[in-house]
Amino acid sequence: MTNGRYARRRGLVARHAARPPRLLSGRGLVVLATAAGVVAACVLGAVWSVAHDERPAHASSVHTASPAPVETPPGSIESLPVPQFEVVVAEDPCQSPAAAAAGDAAAVIAAFGGAEEFRAAAAEGASCIRLDDPTQPWVVVNKQRPVNPIDYAPEVMVPAGTRSLVGGGLRPDAAAALDALVADAAASGAGDVALQSGYRSYQTQVSTFQGQIGALGEEGAEAISARPGFSEHQLGLAADVVACTSGGCGTIYDIAGTPQGDWIVENAWRHGWIVRYESGHTDTTGYNPEPWHLRYIGVELAQAYHEGGYHTLEEFFGLPAAPDYAD
Ligand code: DAL
Ligand code: ZN
Repeated sequence: MTNGRYARRRGLVARHAARPPRLLSGRGLVVLATAAGVVAACVLGAVWSVAHDERPAHASSVHTASPAPVETPPGSIESLPVPQFEVVVAEDPCQSPAAAAAGDAAAVIAAFGGAEEFRAAAAEGASCIRLDDPTQPWVVVNKQRPVNPIDYAPEVMVPAGTRSLVGGGLRPDAAAALDALVADAAASGAGDVALQSGYRSYQTQVSTFQGQIGALGEEGAEAISARPGFSEHQLGLAADVVACTSGGCGTIYDIAGTPQGDWIVENAWRHGWIVRYESGHTDTTGYNPEPWHLRYIGVELAQAYHEGGYHTLEEFFGLPAAPDYAD
């Protein structure tokens, strides 16, 4: 767990007086190792150059206090100045004030050193990252992970800049991000994108799921629709989108292969969205591919998801596959 992880990674860091201590993480380790190497090299260089009455070219990067006055005879080893390093112990991000700033997702991610560091910490089980917190953009809901609490209901709003075909809403951060995606798709020449279905309450999902059972039978419904309490739509962070032309809007089943659908695959991450149920990953997600179902995880995490080449939130956060319900 996190404490062990970060305890193992704690170490002595030579720190520039004007900079705050770095938070250690995957990259932090590299920084630490690099810093340690630089410091060691600089110490050796300083010793060597003092002995040769020179300042090393990189002396300005050696963060030391003034050398202690020398009272021993010149030429003896005791006459060499002893570099004075400020020593700090790197913090556990879970203990940092920024990480404790619940509600501000960007600040929490920044406290970990960035989205990739946050992801890695979450995958290692960092105690302060609750992947079941429905208020956070990193919440993971799947067939093994119900919405918690089961009747959770966020504040939602109809996106101001997106056509909402049946008046559905999204959480405000997701609504703004969908507006940005829709505007970018249009400006890029991909065409119009509209919202077919956004937030669905627990009760709405009861009807939705029952409707699918009526249409497709139980097995068919399970492959395309979440049981009540297990849908990302209940978070207000999922948007089923459709492609529209001057002739009207298609259905969700028509978006694959349209300019809008292709653009979304390539660019949705730029606005904090991922295609949640991709082709080839039903064994992990438990659902057939849904190129229309976008999930908002925030710009920082979506960029890390894209750059890391991930295809499911489960692999992104190191969670078990969730092809089936527990019962
Ligand atoms: N169609 C997705 C899986 C849902 O019902 O949430
Ligand atoms: Zn959906």
